[in-house]
Amino acid sequence: MAWKILLPQEIMSEGRALLQNAGHTIIDGRGFETTDVLADMKEHQPDAMIVRITPITREVIEANPNLKVIVRHGAGFDALDVKACHDNGVQALYAPVANSTSVAETALLLILEMSRNVTVLHNTWVQDYYKAKLKVRKNTLSGKTVGIIGCGNIGSRLAKRALAMEMNVLAYDPYKPAPAFPDGVEVVRDLDRIFKESDYVSVHTPNTPVTRDMVNKNTLAMMKPTAFLINTARGGCVVEEDLYDACKNGMIAGAGLDAIRKEPVDPNNPLLTLDNVIIYPHIGGNTTEAAHRASYFAAMGVQEVYEGKEPTWPIHDVDYATAPTYTDTQKPDTKPSGMFDF
Ligand SMILES: NC(=O)c1ccc[n+]([C@@H]2O[C@H](COP(=O)([O-])OP(=O)(O)OC[C@H]3O[C@@H](n4cnc5c(N)ncnc54)[C@H](O)[C@@H]3O)[C@@H](O)[C@H]2O)c1
Repeated sequence: MAWKILLPQEIMSEGRALLQNAGHTIIDGRGFETTDVLADMKEHQPDAMIVRITPITREVIEANPNLKVIVRHGAGFDALDVKACHDNGVQALYAPVANSTSVAETALLLILEMSRNVTVLHNTWVQDYYKAKLKVRKNTLSGKTVGIIGCGNIGSRLAKRALAMEMNVLAYDPYKPAPAFPDGVEVVRDLDRIFKESDYVSVHTPNTPVTRDMVNKNTLAMMKPTAFLINTARGGCVVEEDLYDACKNGMIAGAGLDAIRKEPVDPNNPLLTLDNVIIYPHIGGNTTEAAHRASYFAAMGVQEVYEGKEPTWPIHDVDYATAPTYTDTQKPDTKPSGMFDF
């Protein structure tokens, strides 16, 4: 018997077509809020759900004993209660590499915007062309250092792009052995070095008990006054009050953010008042190409479970408190294999 599949938010045509062609019934959700999804769960008792942005709590999962699989339409899964899924025999899947390139490009875009002081130029040049041309600070990326914290799917892709811009790349990721880092990066095992030596510190970790508040007044104080913070990961990794003070008082040169603590942004967020801070509305993974891939991979995950196959992308919720760590820094000459590169 075919399944009922709840889509709280619309997915792209490839994913929808895959599910419809397999004979499943699609239920379009009534709204984006968790309470809307809860109501849909109770009313329709779907077998599966593909979720893009709504936080999915234990209450939602336990409201539907017929639920077999939830797929996160993308890479991050901190808004899904994975433990509640496991406790209730619900498979938790995601689409980890669908948008990695798109997010890495976003990090590079923010680095470029900060290097050329785009907001200040934009706000200056119509009124004072010569000031914008001659007085506003602008920097070249070639020869500068980017420090990558978290060298997984996205961090590795940023590393390759930064190397192509002739930047030096430092990468810190204690859970990866040195051979698994991309060629050309310097593997760093001391996080303080990233903050102290980088011209751009770029965060690409999940939001965990270890990384929460990782960028704070102490780590910001280690950074050069000419350096920038880039965060396309999760808002929880940064203490925003400390970042505001650091950017306002010249402790660092500025910040480029695609993730903040409260999304959608509070119009009174003080970071919005600073011309050396750029905030995007969490669009890193939202290019057309990435969304098409994520929709297809998410639908593929549902279909794999339906057919009784081993899913390609189950969520492994790593316990970073007990996960093995590495201290090696030397890479062999061979390239790492097995990385998807879209
Ligand atoms: N802006 C967006 O639209 C967007 C889209 C997708 C993902 N993301 C976010 O980007 C981040 C990275 O995603 P990914 O797909 O590359 O994940 P990933 O799992 O492939 O990589 C994360 C890496 O971080 C490392 N890590 C974990 N804890 C660490 C720590 N304390 N210090 C240093 N490294 C640590 C892990 O070992 C792993 O290699 C996540 O927070 C994800 O939610 C944002």
